[in-house]
Amino acid sequence: MIKVKDLIFQYDKGGEQIVKGISTEIRDGMHVGIIGPTGCGKTTFVRHLNGLLTPTAGEVWVDGMHTADPVAVLKIRPRVGMVFQNPDNQIVGMTVEEDVAFGPGNLALPPIEIARRVQESLAMVGMEKQSKRSPHILSNGEKQLVAIAGVLAMKPRHIILDEPTTYLDPSARERVLHVVNRLHKEGITIVHVTHDMNEIARADRIIVLYEGRIAMEGTPSQVFGHVERLQDLGVGIPKIAEILWSLRETGLDVRTDIFSVEEACKEISSLITSQQKFH
Ligand SMILES: Nc1ncnc2c1ncn2[C@@H]1O[C@H](COP(=O)(O)OP(=O)(O)OP(=O)(O)O)[C@@H](O)[C@H]1O
Ligand SMILES: [Mg+2]
Repeated sequence: MIKVKDLIFQYDKGGEQIVKGISTEIRDGMHVGIIGPTGCGKTTFVRHLNGLLTPTAGEVWVDGMHTADPVAVLKIRPRVGMVFQNPDNQIVGMTVEEDVAFGPGNLALPPIEIARRVQESLAMVGMEKQSKRSPHILSNGEKQLVAIAGVLAMKPRHIILDEPTTYLDPSARERVLHVVNRLHKEGITIVHVTHDMNEIARADRIIVLYEGRIAMEGTPSQVFGHVERLQDLGVGIPKIAEILWSLRETGLDVRTDIFSVEEACKEISSLITSQQKFH
C-alpha cells in the first residue's frame, strides 16, 4: 500500500509550495487515475510515490517503508515502477533487450534470471520479436512498451504512469492502455496521470488535483457526475459521459454515470425500446 500523509513540497527553499498538504491511501491492486489542469502538481506528486522526490513536510510510505529513508528508498524504487511521458528520455540500452535488462541488472541478479525476466517482460508487452533491434528506430508507441517492459523486469508491485500516451498515435495508445489494463488485472497497482478522461473512465478511483491539493476524490461515477465543478477545476469528463449528458439535456431520461461504449449502447437501446413501447 502507498500511504501519503500531509504531503507538502516546494522545489526551492522558501519558494512556492507546489504540493500543499495531500493525504491519501492507495491500496494494493487499485487502478487510480490522477487528473487536474496543467501545472496543478500531478507530476510533482507522483514523483514522491517512489522516492524520486522527498517531502518538504509530511510523509510517504510504500509497503510500510518511508521514502525519506535513504536505505528504504533502495528497496522502494524497484517496487514502484515509473513510466514517463517522453519515451525517448527513457531509453538507455543499445538494443531493446539491453534496455529492458538495465533495471534488473542494477539489482545484482544472476545473469540467467535477468535474461528470463527480460524475455518474460517483453512477451507481456508483445515486443519479444523486437528484442535485438535498436530502441531508437522503434515508433513512440513501441518505445513506450519497451519502457513498460523495463519496469516489469523489476517485478514491481506498483506502476506509476505519468501521461504515458501523450506522444502516441491512437493505435499505439490503445496498445499501451491494453497492456496497462492487463497489468492491473494481474494485481499490480496502477497510478495513471492523464489529461485524457477516457483513459481513466474505468479506474477504481479518481483523484482530481487543483493547485497542489486534492479537490475531488471518488469513483468515476462520483467524480464525473459533477460536470460543472469539474469545468471550474479545468478538467473535462469522458466522451461517453459527455454524449449521455447532451442526450439528457435534450430531455431524454438517460443515465449519465456510464463510461463504456458497450454500456452506453445498452442504455440507449433500452431507452429506444421503452419509448417504442410507449408510442
Ligand atoms: N524542477 C522544478 N523546479 C521548480 N519548479 C518546478 C519544477 N518542476 C515543476 N515545477 C513547477 O511546479 C508546478 C507543478 O508542476 P507539475 O509538473 O508537477 O504539474 P503537472 O500537474 O504535472 O502539469 P502538466 O499537466 O503540465 O504535466 C508548476 O508551476 C511547475 O512550474
Ligand atoms: Mg505533469
